[in-house]
Amino acid sequence: MPSAGAGDDLIGGAVQRSSVAMIVADARLEDMPITYANRAFETLTLYSREFAIGRNCRFLQGPGTDPADVDRIRENLRSGEEFQLTLVNHRADGAPFRNSLLISPVHDDDGTLAAYFGILRAVPEAETGPAPSGVGSDGLSLLLELQHRVKNHLAMIVSMIRIQASRDVTPESLKAISRRIEALGLLYEELLSRNGEGTDQIAAGAYLSRIATVVSGLEARGSIRTNVECDDIDLPVEQAARLGLLLSEFLTNAYEHAFEGRHSGYVEVRFHRTSGGIRLSVEDDGVGLPEGSTWPYGAASIEDQRDRARSETGELDTTGHGKSGVGGSIIVALTQSLGAELNVLRPKRGTIITLDIDPPE
Ligand SMILES: Cc1cc2nc3c(=O)[nH]c(=O)nc-3n(C[C@H](O)[C@H](O)[C@H](O)COP(=O)(O)O)c2cc1C
Repeated sequence: MPSAGAGDDLIGGAVQRSSVAMIVADARLEDMPITYANRAFETLTLYSREFAIGRNCRFLQGPGTDPADVDRIRENLRSGEEFQLTLVNHRADGAPFRNSLLISPVHDDDGTLAAYFGILRAVPEAETGPAPSGVGSDGLSLLLELQHRVKNHLAMIVSMIRIQASRDVTPESLKAISRRIEALGLLYEELLSRNGEGTDQIAAGAYLSRIATVVSGLEARGSIRTNVECDDIDLPVEQAARLGLLLSEFLTNAYEHAFEGRHSGYVEVRFHRTSGGIRLSVEDDGVGLPEGSTWPYGAASIEDQRDRARSETGELDTTGHGKSGVGGSIIVALTQSLGAELNVLRPKRGTIITLDIDPPE
């Protein structure tokens, strides 16, 4: 393949920075996965490129999508012609939007179909048409959002259970699963307590405080003190859901492993604004990670972890002492899906974990 020239770089940069959402799907690969998505795609759909690449675009469909529109896409793709249609898709936070979609085939020099180019544009609310009779448009969209969210979260739980199940299933691993489900359960409690104010945003500080209280109640021994300081910050629900799962992993690790051989200790959870964004940190004064530990980066991805889990058997290890564990893989995957920066520091005493995310727009 010829290397990209300066002109190609220029075009590549422009596409990347364009405010129009664009994707490329590889027509030669099974199930036509996305191979490229620009930043505007992330802004429009709230899905990260890391999430989108490698998947078929149908993850944007949800309860609000008319199956007849999906049939039309399928038929049009078969025709091999460029086409445009508008259908209801869902953002990562579950919110429905009308997507005016243009799909254009791209052929090789020898005329074989190589890829499809897609341009996505949100059509303003005013153009979305009336809600079906019997349900107010607010009630309907709220219901659709919740349904979509439950579906996503169940899928998230199922994939976590699959990873865990491909390792030895132990009482600890079952406990870890129930803790993760509990973290998502708290999210729904928090959402429902908003009394129909919409399910887009959640008071993330209150939610994370509740997770810290629940996990410390489940896992911490009486002699371990936990201090929680969370600022009042509203975040999109999907972002908060991932932060909640991450906090629950961080805390469990601290309670399970940081105080081995110690009678007392201290864990501090903070969630606050920084000059550049928002930071979640978990600090303990325990024994610290072992010398040379790369936790949680032992396994590059959940896929990698799954492959390893299939070919290896062994003890479940969520700490990264030795081979990387399920918890570590989940942390890496969640961090990536948030587009966050994770740092694990080893001060003189204990461990400091910081997770930095961009502020909400
Ligand atoms: C380049 C490209 C972009 C697409 N973009 C979207 C999209 O934004 N929203 C959507 O619902 N489907 C989109 N699709 C369609 C789905 O990927 C898929 O083809 C459709 O759901 C029909 O196939 P299925 O019946 O196997 O799901 C896109 C397809 C291609 C090739």
